[in-house]
This record gives sequence, C-alpha cells and structure tokens, in this order.
Amino acid sequence: MKAAAKAHTNIALIKYWGKRDEQLFLPTNSSISLTLDKFYTETSVAFDPELDTDQFFLNGQQADQKETAKITSFLDRIRIMSGKSLYAKIDSENHVPTAAGFASSASGFAALATAATKAIGLDLDDRKLSQIARQGSGSASRSIFGGYVEWQKGEKNDGSDCYALPILGEQAWDLRILSVEVTTKEKKILSREGMKRTVETSPFYSGWLEAVEKDLITARAAIKATDFEKLGHVVEANALKMHATTLGANPPFMYWQSATVEVLQEVQELRASGVEAYFTIDAGPNVKVLCKPEDEAKIMEKLSLLPVVREIHPCRPGPGISYLS
Ligand code: PMV
Repeated sequence: MKAAAKAHTNIALIKYWGKRDEQLFLPTNSSISLTLDKFYTETSVAFDPELDTDQFFLNGQQADQKETAKITSFLDRIRIMSGKSLYAKIDSENHVPTAAGFASSASGFAALATAATKAIGLDLDDRKLSQIARQGSGSASRSIFGGYVEWQKGEKNDGSDCYALPILGEQAWDLRILSVEVTTKEKKILSREGMKRTVETSPFYSGWLEAVEKDLITARAAIKATDFEKLGHVVEANALKMHATTLGANPPFMYWQSATVEVLQEVQELRASGVEAYFTIDAGPNVKVLCKPEDEAKIMEKLSLLPVVREIHPCRPGPGISYLS
C-alpha cells in the first residue's frame, strides 16, 4: 500500500482570493495559473497496519505535531473515501525554496493527494484529484495539471463542481516567469488568514469580485490566442487589485516591502523602454516577472543590478502530476 508522486508548484495569473466555504476550501472566485517547471514536491505515502498514528517526514526530518496534524486531517478525508482506516508514513521532499517565501503548499498537497489516493487503492481521474488536493490548499487544485490552468469556483455547496481544468498545455506556449527573491525580514501573514480577513472586513472586496470576473474573461481569451501583451496587462492589473483589497481590511495589512516596490518600478521602467515585462505578486514580498523567452536574459541582467534582489529563479511552463516508481 505504497505510492509516490511528483507535483509542480504554480503561479496564479488571475488570483484566488477568498473562500465561500472554509471547510471545503470553496473559493469565491475562479482563478487561472501557470504551472512552473522548476519548483516541485516529491512525496511517497505508505499505509501500514503496524502504525497507530501518521508519521510525516519533510526533507528527511520528522515534522512537528502541528504540521503532522494538518497532514492527518487531510488524509482523514481520503481514509473516509476509501473506507480504510490505516495510518501512513509520508516522506516529502520539497524542491521549493520555502525559506525564501515561495509557497510549497500547492505542489505539496497536489503530490500528497496523488500519492495517498493511489497508495490506498483509489483510482481517480485528474478532476477528482484536483478536488481532493483543493482541500489541503486551494492553489493545489491547479497543480494537478500542467501549463495554463483554470480552477473553476463552481456553484454547488458540496464542491462537486469546484475543480481545476487545463486551458493550454505547457508545450503550447513558452513564456518565462522570473521568480525574483527580495531581501525580507518581515513575518508572513499566511494567505489563509489574509484572505479571510479581507473577505470579512475589506470594503474593497466587493469591487474585487466584480473586477475578477472581467479579468478571467480577458485572461482566458489571451491564453487561447497566445496574446502576450493582453495577458501581461491583465495579470499585472489583477495582482494590483488583489493587493489593494488588503489595504482596506481591518486591521489593514500589506504583503509588499520597499524591495517589492523597487522591483515593480524596475519592471514598469523596462516596459517604458520597450521591453515587454509584467509582474505579479502572491501573498508575500517576492515578485514574479512574466516575459517572452527572447527577453529573459536582458530582464534578468537588469533586475540583478538592484541591490534588493537576492536571487532570480527563471522558470518555464511545467507539467502536471506524475507517479514515481
Ligand atoms: O491556496 P493558498 O492558501 O496557498 O492561497 C493562494 C493565494 C494566492 O497565492 C495569493 C493566490 C493564488 O491564486 O495562488
């Protein structure tokens, strides 16, 4: 009763920001992402009748109680589905620079859902896997698929119409995402906590919901037409709107630091000088820059000159989940 799987992380092009159901991880809006080739998680799960509790190892180290409890409550859903009540040993290798503030929850829960369901004997299609991964971390629902992916919010209360679907495969359109790591000392407000506070208290949240529907239409069309300029503009504008909602929350908060703003301004200057580059930012201070392959070297060179930039990780569109032997 053992299986292993690999899943890549993804970057949201149109953000998921807010839940309509906290337990089932049902979002208030649909979102669109690009799966990345460079960052991934490999996880093996072995259900074992000898165990009387789950054992979770992350990068070779046994995780603390709090982290293990998260995994246990996720696996409980899979145990209920399969009708088997066995505990498991979970070994996860994260190839995501988590210390630098890159989210590993998307690749982590996508790999765990894939490996655990297989190990327990469930034979599920990608859509179903996406629904299960969603219940560990919303963005994990999108990491089941490669390339350009949409996570549909669905309408139903039970979440049965809430899953991700591919829009365009990773081979179909070669774009580059430069993951720009900036110097940071600040404590992170987890996305889970940040979006909850925003939904509950920000007067700007209704504006977000209205705007995101239009951004989704534009982004879908831009991806299908492989129209880089159109996609870049809507991606950047969507990220700015998401971050604007946090300023209206009570208490207000912001994910940006001065280093973040320096990178944003450099991207805008590059664009003013004729280089096509657009930014996006998730729930943290680091910036991701979207560009065409032919501009990658030039943009990396320019951004590396900023003293606040620690490292730049260039990424390409990446694949969906795979099983490992
Ligand atoms: O699924 P979570 O809890 O990692 O939340 C992701 C939230 C954002 O990264 C800000 C947006 C997104 O769609 O990935």
